[in-house]
Amino acid sequence: MKQKNDASKPATKRIAVIPGDGIGKEVIPQAVRVIQASGATVEFTEFDWGADRYLRDGTTVPPDGFAMLARDFDAILVGAFGDPRVKTNIHAKEILLGMRFQMDLYANVRPVRLLDAGLCPLKNVEPKDVDFVVLRENTEGVYTDAGGVFKRGTPDEIATQEDINTRKGVERIIRYAFEYCRSHEKLDGSPRSQVLMCDKSNAMTHAGGLWQRAFKEASAEHPEITAQHMYVDALCMQMVRDPRQFDVIVTNNMFGDIITDLAAGLQGGLGMAASGNIHPGRTSMFEPVHGSAPPIAGKNIANPFGAILAAAMMLRHLGLTREPDKIEAAVLEAVRQKKSTQDIGGNLGTREAGEGVAENVCL
Ligand code: NAD
Ligand code: IPM
Ligand code: MN
Repeated sequence: MKQKNDASKPATKRIAVIPGDGIGKEVIPQAVRVIQASGATVEFTEFDWGADRYLRDGTTVPPDGFAMLARDFDAILVGAFGDPRVKTNIHAKEILLGMRFQMDLYANVRPVRLLDAGLCPLKNVEPKDVDFVVLRENTEGVYTDAGGVFKRGTPDEIATQEDINTRKGVERIIRYAFEYCRSHEKLDGSPRSQVLMCDKSNAMTHAGGLWQRAFKEASAEHPEITAQHMYVDALCMQMVRDPRQFDVIVTNNMFGDIITDLAAGLQGGLGMAASGNIHPGRTSMFEPVHGSAPPIAGKNIANPFGAILAAAMMLRHLGLTREPDKIEAAVLEAVRQKKSTQDIGGNLGTREAGEGVAENVCL
């Protein structure tokens, strides 16, 4: 049961925590500790969904797991899924893509922010130059895994992987992008003003055509917002050449996946990037952009800041402001002081970097 709002006491937010595999199990405890240090009124419930459990008893998501998350929790904080022992990656598909698809978390919001000039591999780029967001369609595209294999293992083998694009799915993420642009400011307080749709409609004419038409229709309803377009290949080049030109980017599931790893590179690497998987009004899920990073797992070297920033995004989504503000400022301070892991120039371990942020939050 949701608690009633009462002016004297903030309602406790119920958070489901799913650390998952690999470094997910190291960075998520740091995110949890920082939320606790922020004083946010939350209650955590941890779930062991992931490779260990799958290898133990063959289960990925318990029966009614997604309905339970939607019913009993205000938000979900997730680490990462992927384990070399599970060659098929079936557990990641069922848990991570399961959450995105079955809970219809259609907007994958991936902010791209440079916290310190020293983190960006590009020359002469300052924090104000990298402040955009990628809104990735999160429930369809090639990720639906529609298609199949015919005459498997023969010289005549055929494999198809369908790119599913529905009018509803394309329209809602494009509309989300215009609404996001209208309602969000840049970090310097200036208004957002441009939505850029990224596709490959010069080659993928059917799906691209639908995206083009839906984008044109939505942009006509928002004359105050500049509508732009780039092919995904050109966009990759432009992102590296001049990230200043981007504001709000909207794209399909696969292109959004690829360009956000590239964009993470602008922020200092995958350890710095956060994301939300959102369906407005429903229980939504927050996670770092990175994966389970098996080669560095269990060594206390993974950067926890992406996970911590995802936790701040989650709290903001839940309507809190003071706590996420404090957490983001604490991460910024830790980056500046180099109280961080090695990937971004510090010499701390995962736990120690998390502890440093928690201390900054309490200052
Ligand atoms: P990855 O993101 O795990 O790692 C890519 C590179 O970034 C590696 O060099 C890794 O060491 C580095 N890296 C990632 N996170 C880091 C962090 N927090 N701190 C420091 N360095 C970090 O991607 P991958 O290697 O392609 O995939 C590994 C596994 O993770 C695969 O099973 C993949 O399917 C899975 N994966 C899961 C998710 C998810 O659950 N959301 C996302 C991406 C990949
Ligand atoms: C991500 C990941 C996933 C994706 C994988 C693990 C299926 O790369 O969250 O970015 O492609 O969406
Ligand atoms: Mn990815």
